[in-house]
Amino acid sequence: MSSKTVGLALVTGASSGIGRSYARSLAADGYNLVITARRSDRLKELADELIQAHGISVETLPADLSSSDGLEAVRRRIYEGTVIEFLVHSAGFGTRGHFVDLEEDVITRMVNLHCLGAASLVRSVLPGMIERNRGRIILVSSLAAFLTTAEYSLYSATKSFLNTLALGLRDELAATEVRVQAVCPGLVKTEFVETPTFNGFRYEGVPEKYWLAPETVVKESLYRLDHRYRPILVPTAGARMFLGILNAPLIGNLIRGMMGASGRRRIKAGKPAMF
Ligand SMILES: NC(=O)c1ccc[n+]([C@@H]2O[C@H](COP(=O)([O-])OP(=O)(O)OC[C@H]3O[C@@H](n4cnc5c(N)ncnc54)[C@H](OP(=O)(O)O)[C@@H]3O)[C@@H](O)[C@H]2O)c1
Repeated sequence: MSSKTVGLALVTGASSGIGRSYARSLAADGYNLVITARRSDRLKELADELIQAHGISVETLPADLSSSDGLEAVRRRIYEGTVIEFLVHSAGFGTRGHFVDLEEDVITRMVNLHCLGAASLVRSVLPGMIERNRGRIILVSSLAAFLTTAEYSLYSATKSFLNTLALGLRDELAATEVRVQAVCPGLVKTEFVETPTFNGFRYEGVPEKYWLAPETVVKESLYRLDHRYRPILVPTAGARMFLGILNAPLIGNLIRGMMGASGRRRIKAGKPAMF
């Protein structure tokens, strides 16, 4: 099956960045869309743009997917409406700082949005896809899934959940035409890196060549669903080579050790600041 088979696609995180770029690409391919995120004005703006440009139908479904009510609303839409041919779960946010300093609420919201959201939406669309023997699922993961280091522990852990889920599903679905891909970009120029969470990060210190445009990630991801398909996609050759070196014995451990030590604040024994 080609990913260009026209049907209905559900895109989470469609109000911005990578999710919005998936919505635009799938619309250009002729998919009708259900787009969801919290900011309804952004969804409406995108819907108007895509209807105008491609003559498709676009339904907006504002929802906070880190809450059980929000997730339930989207699940209800999947069960009640037309069958979903394509699911993209891009909604996500970052955390930075020591795990012990994170508010409990942030932990709950991140695990709900990244992990429970993915598992629950995939579980909702899969029966229909298996029955029709076709379907595409993209989980927007991150290079951070492979780079578990201090100050990004929770974020990395939730993203490695997505990779493991995609790997398991690939095995379970191998005899069908349903494909699942966890896409793992490095730094992408979106609003993600403009949030207060990342205020202290020196993005200007990262050379331009390491930044990806959301459109580049999406183009490679959609192409690789049908060409040399793998359940885990690292979209750039440079990042794939870096991961190869990290996984090499000796040199990999050395680099991991250096990354862990450089520029990271270590927790000192004693009462953590927030208590
Ligand atoms: N940018 C990067 O460098 C980078 C790198 C690797 C992976 N990623 C991953 O890429 C995905 C998309 O991020 P992005 O870079 O496109 O950032 P973005 O521009 O900030 O987009 C994040 C999207 O997630 C939605 N979202 C956040 N919290 C939500 C919630 N509680 N309920 C529903 N929707 C929610 C946002 O919409 P509303 O605010 O309107 O709800 C927005 O549409 C994330 O999963 C992120 O982890 C990003």
